[in-house]
Amino acid sequence: MCGIVGYVGRAEAAPLLLHGLKKLEYRGYDSAGIAVVEPHLHIYKTQGRIADLEALLTEGVPPGSLGIGHTRWATHGRPSWENAHPHCDCSGQIAVVHNGIIENYLELRKKLEGEGHVFRSETDTEVVSHLVEKYYAGDLCRAVQAAVTQLKGSYALAVVSSRHPNELIAVRHDSPLVIGVGEGEYYLASDIPALLDFTRTAYILDDGQVARITRESVAVFNQHGAEQLPQTMHISWDPVQAEKEGYAHFMLKEIHEQPRAIRQTLAGRLGVGGALRLAEEIPADFVRGITNVHLIACGTAYHAALYGAYLLQECTDLQVHVELASEYRYKRTRVNDRTLAIAISQSGETADTLGAMRKAKAAGARILAITNVVGSTLAREADAVMYTHAGPEIAVASTKAYTAQLCSLCLLAAYLQQHSQGTYDPDLLRGLLEIPDQMASIFQTCEARIKEYSWERLAAVSDTFFLGRGLDLASAMEGQLKLKEIAYIHAEALAAGELKHGTLALIEPGVPVVALATQPHLLDKLLSNLREVKARHGEVFLIAMDRQRDFSQAADEVLLVPRTYPMLAPLLTVLPMQLMAYYTATARGCDVDKPRNLAKSVTVE
Ligand code: M6R
Repeated sequence: MCGIVGYVGRAEAAPLLLHGLKKLEYRGYDSAGIAVVEPHLHIYKTQGRIADLEALLTEGVPPGSLGIGHTRWATHGRPSWENAHPHCDCSGQIAVVHNGIIENYLELRKKLEGEGHVFRSETDTEVVSHLVEKYYAGDLCRAVQAAVTQLKGSYALAVVSSRHPNELIAVRHDSPLVIGVGEGEYYLASDIPALLDFTRTAYILDDGQVARITRESVAVFNQHGAEQLPQTMHISWDPVQAEKEGYAHFMLKEIHEQPRAIRQTLAGRLGVGGALRLAEEIPADFVRGITNVHLIACGTAYHAALYGAYLLQECTDLQVHVELASEYRYKRTRVNDRTLAIAISQSGETADTLGAMRKAKAAGARILAITNVVGSTLAREADAVMYTHAGPEIAVASTKAYTAQLCSLCLLAAYLQQHSQGTYDPDLLRGLLEIPDQMASIFQTCEARIKEYSWERLAAVSDTFFLGRGLDLASAMEGQLKLKEIAYIHAEALAAGELKHGTLALIEPGVPVVALATQPHLLDKLLSNLREVKARHGEVFLIAMDRQRDFSQAADEVLLVPRTYPMLAPLLTVLPMQLMAYYTATARGCDVDKPRNLAKSVTVE
C-alpha cells in the first residue's frame, strides 16, 4: 500500500515532505513524488527512490510551506513517472495523492472524459483531481467533499490547490490518515513513522471524515458535512514499533492485515450480492476456446496453485495440471494454443516461475499471471495479469499474499466456469464477501489459545505432521511450510489417507499432529484417519468448521473456524496455522521476519 505525507505551516514544506517519505520507505514503493504550493503548484516525481526525488531538488527547493507527498506501490497502471503521484486536474491547480483503490474509476473516467477532462495517467487516482476540479466553486474543502460522494472503494486522500495556499484537505475512507500537531503547523501522514520526528501529538481521522487543515487550525467534518470535534492522542511508540504499527513483527502485522487484503483483492471485482467483474483484466477472447490449464508456482504460491487446481477441477470441465515451476521447466509438458498457463508469484520475480512461464509461452500457451507486484517481470511478460492487491509484504514468510492468491483463484474459477458452462456458483462468491469479517473474528476468538498451544506444546518439539484431505491437503501443506520456514521445526504434510501407507510408523506418544477437517464429504474418512493417530497416542490439534459434530474421539484440541462454503474454508483455516508458526517461532527466539537461509524474492534457480 502507498504512503501519504502532507505539511502546512511556516517552514519550507519540501524537506519535511521528503523526510516523512523516507520514513515510509520500509513499506516498499516503486515511485514517489511531492507537490509544493508557492505560489503555483510545483510537482516533482520520479519512478525510483526518494533519493532520486531529492536529486531533482538539488538546484534548490521551492520555498512554499504547503505541500503533499507520496510513495506509490502500483495498483492501477504500471510504475512510471506518469503514474506516480501527485496527480493534477486539467488546469494544473489542484494536486491529489491517494492510498487505496477507487473501484468505479473506469466509469468515472469515461464520464469525465466525456465532459472534456484530459487524463495524463493510467491511475484510478487521477479521477479524484478531475472530480475536485469539476466541483470546485471557490471552496476547496466543499469541492473535495462533493468529489468523494462519487467514489466507491477505499481511499485516503490529501489535496492541495494553488488557489488556497494555506489549506490542506485530507479524507479518510477505509485507509488510515493521521494529522500530527505542531506549533503553528500540522503534518499529515498515512503512517505514524512519518510523524515521529516532528510531533507526538496527533488526531487520528475516523472513517468518512474530511479535514480542512490550515497552519492555524484543523476542522473535521463527517460524511454528512457536520463539523466534529477531533480528539488528540499521544503517540508513545518508538520508531521501530511505529513501522510495525505496534506489532512485534511485520509477519504478525501482515497476518492481521488479511481482512483488509481480501477486501482489496475483491474491490471492483465483486459487486454486492456476488456479481463478477473480471472481463477488464482477463478479456473474454483471452480465455475463449481453452481446453486445459497449467498452474505453475513455487513455495507458498504453489500451495495456492494446488488450491486453484482443485477449484478448477470442481467448477469446470477443463483438464487441469498443477506443477512446481522448478520441475515444470525441465519436463515434457503438453502445451498447445488452447492451454492457459497460470503462473502465480507474490513477487513476480521468482526465477523458476519465470522460467516455467517462458517455457509455456514459447510452446504456445496463453499466459495469465497472478501476482502482487505491479510491473514485475512476470506481469510484464504475461499476456494477462490478475493483481492480488494484498499490499507490500515485508516479512519473508508469505501470509496475506497467500490468502489474496486464494481469493483471486476463487474469482478466476468462477469466471472460467461462467465461460465454459454459462453460469457460476453464486454461493462461492457470496461466501467470499463474508471472508474478511470471518477472518477478523478468528483473531478475536482464537489467537490467545493458539499462542498458548504454540508456546506450551509446539515450541518444544522437533517433529510435527499436518494432515488433510481434498482441499484441506493444500492448506496442510501451507501450514507445514510456515512452521518449518520460521520456527525451524521439522513438519510434514500428508494426505490423511496416506498415513497408513508408511508414515504412521513415526506417530509416537505426544507427537503433535495438526489436522484440518472442513470438507463435509471427507469428514468421516478424515476422522477415522485421526483415530489411527490417537490409537498411537499422537496428539491431535484439529481445525474444523462443523459445530454439530463430536470430535472428542479424534482430537485432543478442537479449534472451530467460522462456517463458510467448504471451498472457501482454506481462506480461514490457514490463519490459525500462520499464527501457530508465528508464536512457535517467537517462543523459540527465532528471527521471525528474516528467517535463516531464505530470501523474500528468490531470483536465482
Ligand atoms: O514471490 P513468489 O510467490 O514467487 O515466491 C515463491 C516462494 O519463494 C515463496 O512463496 C516462499 O515459499 C515463501 N517464503 C513462503 O512463505
